[in-house]
Amino acid sequence: MINILVTGANGQLGNEFRSIYKDESIAFEKPVNFVFTDIDTLDLSNKIFLKKFLQDHSFDFIINCAAYTNVDLAETEKEKAFEVNANCVKNITESITDKNTKLIHISTDYVFDGNSCIPYSEKMQPNPQSVYGNSKLDGEKYALSFTKSIVIRTSWLYSAYGKNFAKTIHKYCKEKESLNVVFDQIGTPTYANDLAKATLLIIKQSVKDKRFITGIYHYSNEGVCSWYDFAKIIAEKAYSNCKINPIESKDYPTPVKRPFYSVLNKSKIKSVYNIEIPHWQDSLNEFFKVL
Ligand SMILES: NC(=O)c1ccc[n+]([C@@H]2O[C@H](COP(=O)([O-])OP(=O)(O)OC[C@H]3O[C@@H](n4cnc5c(N)ncnc54)[C@H](OP(=O)(O)O)[C@@H]3O)[C@@H](O)[C@H]2O)c1
Repeated sequence: MINILVTGANGQLGNEFRSIYKDESIAFEKPVNFVFTDIDTLDLSNKIFLKKFLQDHSFDFIINCAAYTNVDLAETEKEKAFEVNANCVKNITESITDKNTKLIHISTDYVFDGNSCIPYSEKMQPNPQSVYGNSKLDGEKYALSFTKSIVIRTSWLYSAYGKNFAKTIHKYCKEKESLNVVFDQIGTPTYANDLAKATLLIIKQSVKDKRFITGIYHYSNEGVCSWYDFAKIIAEKAYSNCKINPIESKDYPTPVKRPFYSVLNKSKIKSVYNIEIPHWQDSLNEFFKVL
């Protein structure tokens, strides 16, 4: 039996694990037991409880999806952001007693400054520009201090669950005649369902080949677009007549300046774990099927 704990399982990504764990296309050779927790059942900031929980239950893999993800609010709730994104990761690594447990921790493109003009590889120097990015970078360091850990950085995550850009645009383009969306921030959307599947494929291969290659990996969908391009396709797929207008970031001020360039280089995850990544537009079609 393979035991897998998914923390932060009520969020976008966590919910995707809940939705796919019985998927036959990623069937494991051995029986798998998934345990899904969130702050109500396993508050990762409660170290005493967490330690006891991990003493009482043995896990082969912990997938940490728990996070503080409000990028703008993090600027004023700095302590809370660091508590969840950094200290909770430290709590996990310090509470694991089973020597077989491996940790897969999820991180973000916000660890970079967004000034690159080539896709970010795992070897490139992080330089976070926000409280959120700094807290996530600290979380990565804690995760990687644990000997058996993988950190997966992703970008522009969206899902049928929770709040995200794709769902917001889908809703607004049915209600409004026009929408202004920035065209000068470039990146790649990531359908959380694809990321969940890729993570389970890593686990599956690690079990099959007894080969868990620690370190950082980048994962997003294939392709590149601006938020404007993304919104325009969402409106088209929603059969909306809403006009999507391209605007510059300077005309859409936010408390945290968004990175201009967030494209991730995914060569490593594709070659090490032989993972095929769908193009973002194909994944958007899948998202529309379940929305
Ligand atoms: N969303 C994006 O666009 C994006 C982009 C790049 C990377 N990422 C990363 O991808 C991962 C998954 O993101 P997501 O969008 O799925 O996040 P999410 O929807 O915000 O889910 C995070 C979950 O963690 C829970 N949580 C918060 N504090 C906790 C604690 N102390 N103990 C246990 N659970 C706790 C949250 O509960 P509450 O809701 O009650 O706080 C929530 O259910 C995160 O690491 C995030 O940084 C996200």
